[in-house]
Amino acid sequence: MHILHVVGARPNFMKAAPVLRALAAKPGVRQTLVHTGQHYDRIMSDVFFQELEMPQPDCNLEVGSGSHAQQTAAVLRAFEPVIIERKPDLVLVYGDVNSTIAAALVCAKLGFPVGHVEAGLRSRDRTMPEEINRLLTDQLSDLLFTPSPDADENLLHEGVDRSRIHLVGNVMIDTLVRLLPRSEQHLRANLAAPYILVTLHRPSNVDDLPWLRELLAALAELSQHLTVVFPVHPRTRERLSNLTTDAGSHPRLQLLDPQPYLDFLALQRGAALVITDSGGIQEETTFLGVSCLTVRENTERPVTITMGTNQLVGRDLQKLRKAAAEILREKLESGTNQGATESGRRESSSGMETQQQKCHIPLWDGHAGERIAEIILRCEPL
Ligand code: UD1
Repeated sequence: MHILHVVGARPNFMKAAPVLRALAAKPGVRQTLVHTGQHYDRIMSDVFFQELEMPQPDCNLEVGSGSHAQQTAAVLRAFEPVIIERKPDLVLVYGDVNSTIAAALVCAKLGFPVGHVEAGLRSRDRTMPEEINRLLTDQLSDLLFTPSPDADENLLHEGVDRSRIHLVGNVMIDTLVRLLPRSEQHLRANLAAPYILVTLHRPSNVDDLPWLRELLAALAELSQHLTVVFPVHPRTRERLSNLTTDAGSHPRLQLLDPQPYLDFLALQRGAALVITDSGGIQEETTFLGVSCLTVRENTERPVTITMGTNQLVGRDLQKLRKAAAEILREKLESGTNQGATESGRRESSSGMETQQQKCHIPLWDGHAGERIAEIILRCEPL
Protein backbone atom coordinates (compact mmCIF):
# COMPACT_ATOMS: atom_id res chain seq x y z
CA MET A 1 0.00 0.00 0.00
CA HIS A 2 1.35 3.43 -0.95
CA ILE A 3 0.49 6.29 1.42
CA LEU A 4 1.38 9.88 0.59
CA HIS A 5 1.48 12.44 3.41
CA VAL A 6 1.19 16.17 2.82
CA VAL A 7 2.65 18.65 5.30
CA GLY A 8 3.18 22.36 4.87
CA ALA A 9 3.15 24.47 8.00
CA ARG A 10 4.67 24.14 11.45
CA PRO A 11 1.78 22.47 13.33
CA ASN A 12 1.50 19.78 10.61
CA PHE A 13 4.92 18.37 11.47
CA MET A 14 4.01 17.39 15.05
CA LYS A 15 0.83 15.72 13.75
CA ALA A 16 2.37 13.80 10.85
CA ALA A 17 5.45 12.51 12.72
CA PRO A 18 3.63 9.83 14.80
CA VAL A 19 1.57 8.62 11.83
CA LEU A 20 4.71 8.27 9.69
CA ARG A 21 6.38 6.30 12.48
CA ALA A 22 3.41 4.01 13.04
CA LEU A 23 3.02 3.25 9.35
CA ALA A 24 6.77 2.70 8.92
CA ALA A 25 6.44 -0.22 11.33
CA LYS A 26 3.84 -1.94 9.14
CA PRO A 27 4.97 -4.45 6.54
CA GLY A 28 3.86 -3.78 2.98
CA VAL A 29 3.46 -0.02 3.46
CA ARG A 30 5.37 2.41 1.25
CA GLN A 31 5.31 6.09 2.23
CA THR A 32 5.93 9.34 0.40
CA LEU A 33 6.25 12.66 2.20
CA VAL A 34 5.39 15.86 0.33
CA HIS A 35 6.23 19.25 1.88
CA THR A 36 4.32 22.08 0.25
CA GLY A 37 6.86 24.66 1.45
CA GLN A 38 4.17 26.85 3.07
CA HIS A 39 6.66 27.20 5.92
CA TYR A 40 10.23 27.18 4.69
CA ASP A 41 12.60 28.75 7.25
CA ARG A 42 14.95 26.69 9.35
CA ILE A 43 13.15 27.84 12.49
CA MET A 44 9.65 27.25 11.10
CA SER A 45 10.35 23.95 9.34
CA ASP A 46 13.79 22.26 9.12
CA VAL A 47 14.46 22.17 12.85
CA PHE A 48 11.18 20.30 13.39
CA PHE A 49 12.14 17.59 10.90
CA GLN A 50 15.37 17.08 12.85
CA GLU A 51 13.92 17.09 16.35
CA LEU A 52 10.88 14.98 15.48
CA GLU A 53 13.15 12.56 13.57
CA MET A 54 11.04 12.77 10.46
CA PRO A 55 12.29 11.51 7.10
CA GLN A 56 13.33 14.23 4.68
CA PRO A 57 10.48 15.12 2.28
CA ASP A 58 10.53 13.21 -1.01
CA CYS A 59 9.50 16.41 -2.69
CA ASN A 60 9.11 20.07 -1.77
CA LEU A 61 6.62 22.16 -3.72
CA GLU A 62 8.25 25.40 -2.49
CA VAL A 63 5.04 27.42 -2.59
CA GLY A 64 6.20 29.90 0.07
CA SER A 65 4.15 32.79 1.42
CA GLY A 66 1.36 34.80 -0.19
CA SER A 67 -2.28 35.73 0.18
CA HIS A 68 -4.65 32.86 0.96
CA ALA A 69 -5.71 32.58 -2.68
CA GLN A 70 -2.13 32.72 -3.93
CA GLN A 71 -0.84 30.18 -1.43
CA THR A 72 -3.75 27.76 -1.91
CA ALA A 73 -3.60 28.08 -5.69
CA ALA A 74 0.16 27.51 -5.68
CA VAL A 75 -0.35 24.20 -3.81
CA LEU A 76 -3.18 23.18 -6.17
CA ARG A 77 -1.01 23.73 -9.25
CA ALA A 78 2.14 22.16 -7.88
CA PHE A 79 0.53 19.17 -6.16
CA GLU A 80 -1.63 17.93 -9.03
CA PRO A 81 1.26 16.61 -11.17
CA VAL A 82 2.82 14.96 -8.10
CA ILE A 83 -0.34 12.97 -7.42
CA ILE A 84 -0.78 12.03 -11.06
CA GLU A 85 2.80 10.77 -11.21
CA ARG A 86 2.96 8.98 -7.85
CA LYS A 87 -0.55 7.47 -7.80
CA PRO A 88 -0.84 6.78 -4.05
CA ASP A 89 -3.51 4.50 -2.61
CA LEU A 90 -4.27 7.08 0.09
CA VAL A 91 -3.29 10.69 0.77
CA LEU A 92 -3.13 11.85 4.40
CA VAL A 93 -3.60 15.54 5.17
CA TYR A 94 -3.21 17.14 8.61
CA GLY A 95 -4.89 19.89 10.61
CA ASP A 96 -6.36 23.03 9.09
CA VAL A 97 -3.73 25.01 7.21
CA ASN A 98 -3.96 26.20 3.60
CA SER A 99 -1.82 23.26 2.42
CA THR A 100 -4.37 20.85 3.94
CA ILE A 101 -7.42 22.07 2.02
CA ALA A 102 -5.45 22.52 -1.21
CA ALA A 103 -4.08 18.96 -1.16
CA ALA A 104 -7.48 17.48 -0.25
CA LEU A 105 -9.14 19.36 -3.12
CA VAL A 106 -6.62 18.12 -5.69
CA CYS A 107 -7.15 14.51 -4.55
CA ALA A 108 -10.94 14.73 -4.45
CA LYS A 109 -11.07 16.10 -8.01
CA LEU A 110 -8.78 13.36 -9.29
CA GLY A 111 -10.53 10.59 -7.35
CA PHE A 112 -7.66 9.75 -4.96
CA PRO A 113 -8.83 8.74 -1.46
CA VAL A 114 -8.04 11.25 1.30
CA GLY A 115 -7.69 10.76 5.03
CA HIS A 116 -7.94 13.85 7.27
CA VAL A 117 -6.04 13.67 10.54
CA GLU A 118 -7.54 15.99 13.20
CA ALA A 119 -10.95 16.03 11.54
CA GLY A 120 -14.17 17.48 12.96
CA LEU A 121 -12.88 20.42 15.03
CA ARG A 122 -15.11 23.49 14.73
CA SER A 123 -14.83 26.99 16.18
CA ARG A 124 -18.03 28.00 14.33
CA ASP A 125 -16.20 31.20 13.44
CA ARG A 126 -15.97 31.52 9.69
CA THR A 127 -13.83 34.63 9.91
CA MET A 128 -10.97 32.26 10.79
CA PRO A 129 -9.26 30.95 7.65
CA GLU A 130 -8.64 27.66 9.46
CA GLU A 131 -12.38 27.10 10.01
CA ILE A 132 -13.01 27.27 6.25
CA ASN A 133 -10.12 24.85 5.71
CA ARG A 134 -11.51 22.42 8.32
CA LEU A 135 -15.07 22.43 6.97
CA LEU A 136 -14.05 21.87 3.37
CA THR A 137 -11.31 19.32 4.06
CA ASP A 138 -13.72 17.19 6.07
CA GLN A 139 -16.31 17.27 3.29
CA LEU A 140 -13.68 16.11 0.79
CA SER A 141 -12.18 13.32 2.90
CA ASP A 142 -12.96 9.61 2.81
CA LEU A 143 -11.47 8.80 6.21
CA LEU A 144 -11.92 11.23 9.10
CA PHE A 145 -9.63 10.70 12.07
CA THR A 146 -10.93 12.66 15.06
CA PRO A 147 -9.19 13.65 18.31
CA SER A 148 -12.21 13.84 20.65
CA PRO A 149 -15.94 12.95 20.75
CA ASP A 150 -17.07 16.57 20.13
CA ALA A 151 -15.42 16.32 16.71
CA ASP A 152 -17.45 13.19 15.89
CA GLU A 153 -20.64 15.02 16.85
CA ASN A 154 -19.75 18.00 14.65
CA LEU A 155 -19.21 15.72 11.66
CA LEU A 156 -22.43 13.80 12.23
CA HIS A 157 -24.35 17.10 12.39
CA GLU A 158 -22.88 18.05 9.04
CA GLY A 159 -24.16 14.85 7.51
CA VAL A 160 -20.92 12.90 7.36
CA ASP A 161 -21.56 9.17 7.29
CA ARG A 162 -20.69 7.52 10.58
CA SER A 163 -18.70 4.81 8.82
CA ARG A 164 -16.12 7.38 7.67
CA ILE A 165 -15.47 8.75 11.19
CA HIS A 166 -12.78 7.17 13.37
CA LEU A 167 -12.16 8.48 16.88
CA VAL A 168 -8.41 7.90 17.31
CA GLY A 169 -7.26 10.52 19.81
CA ASN A 170 -4.75 13.33 19.55
CA VAL A 171 -1.69 12.83 17.35
CA MET A 172 -0.07 16.05 18.57
CA ILE A 173 -0.12 14.57 22.06
CA ASP A 174 1.62 11.44 20.66
CA THR A 175 4.58 13.63 19.79
CA LEU A 176 4.46 15.39 23.14
CA VAL A 177 4.39 12.10 25.07
CA ARG A 178 7.34 10.76 23.09
CA LEU A 179 9.52 13.84 23.42
CA LEU A 180 8.60 15.21 26.84
CA PRO A 181 11.46 13.37 28.59
CA ARG A 182 13.93 14.68 26.00
CA SER A 183 12.71 18.26 26.50
CA GLU A 184 14.27 18.21 29.96
CA GLN A 185 17.66 18.85 28.37
CA HIS A 186 16.23 21.95 26.72
CA LEU A 187 15.39 24.02 29.77
CA ARG A 188 16.37 27.59 29.08
CA ALA A 189 19.44 28.71 30.95
CA ASN A 190 19.04 31.95 32.90
CA LEU A 191 15.26 31.75 32.97
CA ALA A 192 14.12 31.87 36.54
CA ALA A 193 10.73 30.46 37.43
CA PRO A 194 8.01 31.56 37.73
CA TYR A 195 7.45 33.04 34.26
CA ILE A 196 4.65 33.58 31.76
CA LEU A 197 4.94 32.15 28.24
CA VAL A 198 3.22 33.98 25.36
CA THR A 199 2.56 33.19 21.69
CA LEU A 200 0.38 35.25 19.35
CA HIS A 201 0.11 34.87 15.60
CA ARG A 202 -3.58 34.76 14.57
CA PRO A 203 -4.55 37.47 12.06
CA SER A 204 -7.38 38.50 14.43
CA ASN A 205 -4.77 39.51 17.00
CA VAL A 206 -1.69 40.57 15.09
CA ASP A 207 -3.09 42.12 11.90
CA ASP A 208 -5.09 44.68 13.89
CA LEU A 209 -2.29 47.03 14.92
CA PRO A 210 -4.14 49.15 17.53
CA TRP A 211 -5.25 45.92 19.26
CA LEU A 212 -1.76 44.44 18.99
CA ARG A 213 -0.39 47.59 20.65
CA GLU A 214 -2.88 47.22 23.52
CA LEU A 215 -2.03 43.55 23.92
CA LEU A 216 1.65 44.32 24.04
CA ALA A 217 1.06 47.01 26.65
CA ALA A 218 -0.83 44.45 28.78
CA LEU A 219 2.09 42.02 28.48
CA ALA A 220 4.55 44.76 29.40
CA GLU A 221 2.42 45.46 32.46
CA LEU A 222 2.46 41.77 33.46
CA SER A 223 6.24 41.76 33.05
CA GLN A 224 6.50 44.23 35.90
CA HIS A 225 5.51 41.34 38.17
CA LEU A 226 6.92 38.31 36.37
CA THR A 227 9.22 37.53 33.45
CA VAL A 228 7.23 37.23 30.21
CA VAL A 229 8.82 35.05 27.52
CA PHE A 230 7.40 35.66 24.05
CA PRO A 231 8.71 33.63 21.08
CA VAL A 232 7.58 35.79 18.17
CA HIS A 233 6.09 34.17 15.04
CA PRO A 234 7.35 35.68 11.73
CA ARG A 235 3.89 37.14 10.95
CA THR A 236 3.85 38.85 14.35
CA ARG A 237 7.46 40.02 13.98
CA GLU A 238 6.55 41.70 10.72
CA ARG A 239 3.53 43.45 12.26
CA LEU A 240 5.57 44.56 15.27
CA SER A 241 8.10 46.16 12.95
CA ASN A 242 5.27 48.50 11.81
CA LEU A 243 4.40 49.45 15.36
CA THR A 244 6.01 51.99 17.64
CA THR A 245 5.90 50.53 21.12
CA ASP A 246 7.97 50.80 24.24
CA ALA A 247 8.22 46.96 24.46
CA GLY A 248 12.01 47.23 24.27
CA SER A 249 12.10 49.26 27.48
CA HIS A 250 10.67 46.42 29.58
CA PRO A 251 13.62 44.22 30.48
CA ARG A 252 11.44 41.38 31.74
CA LEU A 253 9.44 41.18 28.49
CA GLN A 254 11.68 38.90 26.46
CA LEU A 255 10.93 38.77 22.73
CA LEU A 256 12.59 35.66 21.25
CA ASP A 257 12.75 34.01 17.85
CA PRO A 258 10.29 31.16 17.23
CA GLN A 259 11.54 28.23 19.28
CA PRO A 260 12.35 24.69 18.17
CA TYR A 261 9.95 21.98 19.37
CA LEU A 262 11.94 20.70 22.36
CA ASP A 263 12.82 24.17 23.65
CA PHE A 264 9.22 25.26 23.38
CA LEU A 265 7.98 22.14 25.12
CA ALA A 266 10.40 22.80 27.98
CA LEU A 267 9.13 26.40 28.14
CA GLN A 268 5.48 25.27 28.27
CA ARG A 269 6.13 22.68 30.89
CA GLY A 270 7.84 25.14 33.19
CA ALA A 271 5.44 28.06 32.70
CA ALA A 272 3.28 29.35 35.52
CA LEU A 273 0.85 30.58 32.87
CA VAL A 274 0.60 30.44 29.07
CA ILE A 275 -1.10 33.20 27.08
CA THR A 276 -1.76 32.19 23.47
CA ASP A 277 -4.03 32.20 20.44
CA SER A 278 -2.75 28.88 19.10
CA GLY A 279 -4.95 25.79 18.86
CA GLY A 280 -2.22 23.25 19.49
CA ILE A 281 -0.90 25.06 22.56
CA GLN A 282 -4.37 25.00 24.16
CA GLU A 283 -4.19 21.20 23.85
CA GLU A 284 -0.60 20.81 24.96
CA THR A 285 -1.14 22.91 28.09
CA THR A 286 -4.23 20.84 28.88
CA PHE A 287 -2.20 17.66 28.70
CA LEU A 288 0.58 19.19 30.79
CA GLY A 289 -1.84 20.61 33.36
CA VAL A 290 -0.53 24.15 32.77
CA SER A 291 -2.96 27.08 32.98
CA CYS A 292 -3.70 28.76 29.67
CA LEU A 293 -5.48 31.98 28.72
CA THR A 294 -6.57 32.04 25.09
CA VAL A 295 -6.83 35.43 23.41
CA ARG A 296 -9.76 34.43 21.20
CA GLU A 297 -13.55 34.63 21.40
CA ASN A 298 -14.00 30.92 20.63
CA THR A 299 -12.13 27.66 20.40
CA GLU A 300 -12.43 24.60 18.20
CA ARG A 301 -11.00 22.60 21.12
CA PRO A 302 -13.76 22.78 23.79
CA VAL A 303 -12.28 19.88 25.71
CA THR A 304 -9.46 22.22 26.84
CA ILE A 305 -12.09 24.39 28.55
CA THR A 306 -14.05 21.55 30.14
CA MET A 307 -10.82 20.10 31.51
CA GLY A 308 -10.36 23.36 33.39
CA THR A 309 -6.89 24.36 32.17
CA ASN A 310 -7.95 26.80 29.46
CA GLN A 311 -10.04 30.00 29.59
CA LEU A 312 -11.12 32.20 26.70
CA VAL A 313 -10.45 35.87 27.39
CA GLY A 314 -11.42 37.15 23.94
CA ARG A 315 -10.68 40.80 23.37
CA ASP A 316 -11.19 41.78 26.96
CA LEU A 317 -7.94 42.93 28.53
CA GLN A 318 -9.58 43.39 31.92
CA LYS A 319 -10.55 39.74 31.81
CA LEU A 320 -7.00 38.82 30.81
CA ARG A 321 -5.48 40.83 33.68
CA LYS A 322 -7.95 39.47 36.23
CA ALA A 323 -7.63 35.83 35.15
CA ALA A 324 -3.82 36.11 35.02
CA ALA A 325 -3.70 37.63 38.50
CA GLU A 326 -5.93 34.88 39.92
CA ILE A 327 -3.97 32.05 38.32
CA LEU A 328 -0.62 33.48 39.40
CA ARG A 329 -1.78 34.12 42.94
CA GLU A 330 -2.98 30.51 43.22
CA LYS A 331 0.20 29.13 41.70
CA LEU A 332 2.48 31.21 43.87
CA GLU A 333 0.54 30.42 47.03
CA SER A 334 0.50 26.68 46.37
CA GLY A 335 4.09 26.73 45.06
CA THR A 336 3.09 24.58 42.06
CA ASN A 337 3.96 24.86 38.43
CA GLN A 338 6.73 27.33 39.00
CA GLY A 339 8.79 25.97 36.22
CA ALA A 340 12.27 24.80 35.68
CA THR A 341 13.56 24.94 39.20
CA GLU A 342 16.23 22.57 40.47
CA SER A 343 13.61 20.55 42.32
CA GLY A 344 11.56 20.48 39.10
CA ARG A 345 14.56 19.03 37.31
CA ARG A 346 15.02 16.37 39.96
CA GLU A 347 11.35 15.39 39.92
CA SER A 348 11.17 15.29 36.18
CA SER A 349 12.23 11.67 35.68
CA SER A 350 8.86 10.67 37.08
CA GLY A 351 7.15 13.60 35.36
CA MET A 352 5.72 11.56 32.52
CA GLU A 353 3.54 9.40 34.75
CA THR A 354 2.40 12.46 36.66
CA GLN A 355 1.31 14.23 33.47
CA GLN A 356 -0.58 11.21 32.21
CA GLN A 357 -2.35 10.74 35.51
CA LYS A 358 -3.39 14.39 35.38
CA CYS A 359 -4.77 14.25 31.85
CA HIS A 360 -7.94 12.19 31.74
CA ILE A 361 -8.94 12.80 28.15
CA PRO A 362 -9.62 9.41 26.60
CA LEU A 363 -7.22 8.50 23.80
CA TRP A 364 -4.80 11.36 24.47
CA ASP A 365 -2.34 8.67 25.38
CA GLY A 366 0.52 8.70 22.88
CA HIS A 367 -0.97 5.99 20.63
CA ALA A 368 -3.25 7.86 18.21
CA GLY A 369 -0.81 7.39 15.31
CA GLU A 370 -0.80 3.63 15.85
CA ARG A 371 -4.61 3.57 15.82
CA ILE A 372 -4.64 5.49 12.54
CA ALA A 373 -2.20 2.98 11.00
CA GLU A 374 -4.37 0.04 12.12
CA ILE A 375 -7.52 1.59 10.68
CA ILE A 376 -5.88 2.40 7.35
CA LEU A 377 -4.68 -1.15 6.91
CA ARG A 378 -8.06 -2.52 7.97
CA CYS A 379 -9.91 -0.30 5.48
CA GLU A 380 -7.72 -1.28 2.50
CA PRO A 381 -8.69 -1.22 -0.34
CA LEU A 382 -10.33 2.17 0.02
C1 UD1 B 1 -0.17 29.23 9.29
C2 UD1 B 1 -1.56 28.60 9.38
C3 UD1 B 1 -2.04 28.63 10.83
C4 UD1 B 1 -1.03 28.02 11.75
C5 UD1 B 1 0.30 28.73 11.57
C6 UD1 B 1 1.40 28.19 12.45
C7 UD1 B 1 -3.04 28.87 7.43
C8 UD1 B 1 -4.26 29.55 6.95
N1 UD1 B 1 -2.55 29.34 8.60
O1 UD1 B 1 -0.32 30.61 9.62
O2 UD1 B 1 -3.25 27.89 10.92
O3 UD1 B 1 -1.45 28.18 13.09
O4 UD1 B 1 0.69 28.57 10.19
O5 UD1 B 1 2.56 28.92 12.25
O6 UD1 B 1 -2.55 27.98 6.79
N2 UD1 B 1 6.90 33.22 7.24
C9 UD1 B 1 8.25 33.14 7.46
N3 UD1 B 1 8.85 31.93 7.41
C10 UD1 B 1 8.16 30.81 7.13
C11 UD1 B 1 6.78 30.89 6.91
C12 UD1 B 1 6.16 32.10 6.98
O7 UD1 B 1 8.92 34.14 7.70
O8 UD1 B 1 8.78 29.72 7.11
C13 UD1 B 1 6.22 34.50 7.34
C14 UD1 B 1 5.89 35.14 6.03
O9 UD1 B 1 6.10 36.50 6.14
C15 UD1 B 1 4.40 34.89 5.88
C16 UD1 B 1 3.93 34.86 7.33
O10 UD1 B 1 5.03 34.31 8.05
O11 UD1 B 1 3.76 35.84 5.13
C17 UD1 B 1 2.72 34.02 7.58
O12 UD1 B 1 2.89 32.68 7.08
P1 UD1 B 1 1.62 31.87 6.52
O13 UD1 B 1 2.03 30.51 6.12
O14 UD1 B 1 0.91 32.69 5.50
O15 UD1 B 1 0.63 31.79 7.73
P2 UD1 B 1 0.84 31.65 9.29
O16 UD1 B 1 0.46 32.93 9.91
O17 UD1 B 1 2.18 31.07 9.63
